[in-house]
Amino acid sequence: MNDLALRVPFGQTGLSVSRLGIGSSFVGDEAFIEEAVERGINYLYWGSIRRPAFGRAMRNLARRNREDLVLTVQSYSRVAALMGPSVEVALRRARVDYFDFLLLGMWNQPPKQSLVDAAQRLKEQGKVRHLMLSTHNRPSLEGHFAEFAAGTSPFDVFMLRYNAVHRGAETDVFPHLPSGGRPGIVAYTATRWGHLLDPAKMPPGMKPPNARDCYRFALTHPDVTVALCGPADRAQMQEALRALDDGPLSEEEMAHMRAIGDHVYGKYKPQFAEQGDKRDAA
Ligand SMILES: NC(=O)c1ccc[n+]([C@@H]2O[C@H](COP(=O)([O-])OP(=O)(O)OC[C@H]3O[C@@H](n4cnc5c(N)ncnc54)[C@H](OP(=O)(O)O)[C@@H]3O)[C@@H](O)[C@H]2O)c1
Repeated sequence: MNDLALRVPFGQTGLSVSRLGIGSSFVGDEAFIEEAVERGINYLYWGSIRRPAFGRAMRNLARRNREDLVLTVQSYSRVAALMGPSVEVALRRARVDYFDFLLLGMWNQPPKQSLVDAAQRLKEQGKVRHLMLSTHNRPSLEGHFAEFAAGTSPFDVFMLRYNAVHRGAETDVFPHLPSGGRPGIVAYTATRWGHLLDPAKMPPGMKPPNARDCYRFALTHPDVTVALCGPADRAQMQEALRALDDGPLSEEEMAHMRAIGDHVYGKYKPQFAEQGDKRDAA
């Protein structure tokens, strides 16, 4: 077994997590999610779109072995009073007693205290075990990490964009992680909305990478705990799983991915800009 096939500690939560996580946004059939979990995946993220099939997969899997799963539900709520009902609906639909994480989605500035308080209440009630935050303002993470190091952050895991095209996190996020006792890091948009897989977007004479290499790229960075994939069908799921079989990229493969990433960056705008990185915000 190589590095990527092994589960790792998820920050300081005490949970052990697979390096590949599955996002629900494109999933229309629960069978291939359940099959991936049988192959060792245990991180399931119900967001940004809570597809019913993904909820059914969570339900079926939790019935068999809830303790082995790390289940995340996302809330984009900006209204504290709506956060609890949103999580309760999700608990009922997935028929689980708790989620391991409540992810507060897309906070480019620190969330209002009333929202953090609402999330903390759900923790106290045992409906969620830990909190996570995702952002499109990568430099804002430095402040979150300082709070984490001081023991005052409500969040145990942070989620951000990192791929072969958008590598800003290498300078504006990862160097600011605390030196010991780190939070977990989840990377999203590994394929850059599929652009990295598109033959028409490649430099002249170059073939696109496989999806597995996009996930391997993110996972080769030592500070990334989990790379998310967004499979739409069984074939895409199987392809993503091959990332774990193939292991980290070599330095030569990384250089190849970066060259493709630079080309895509220069020629094709992101679907939506990321705050904080001048190149990304262009
Ligand atoms: N909270 C946040 O801030 C945030 C931010 C970003 C993403 N997310 C969520 O994170 C999850 C993962 O999304 P992602 O964008 O990071 O995943 P991803 O795997 O990088 O991208 C998913 C897209 O890549 C394509 N794809 C995946 N595997 C493929 C394959 N083997 N061959 C060809 N195309 C393939 C699919 O395109 P086709 O549909 O064209 O097949 C799919 O639309 C989703 O649930 C997403 O909604 C959340």
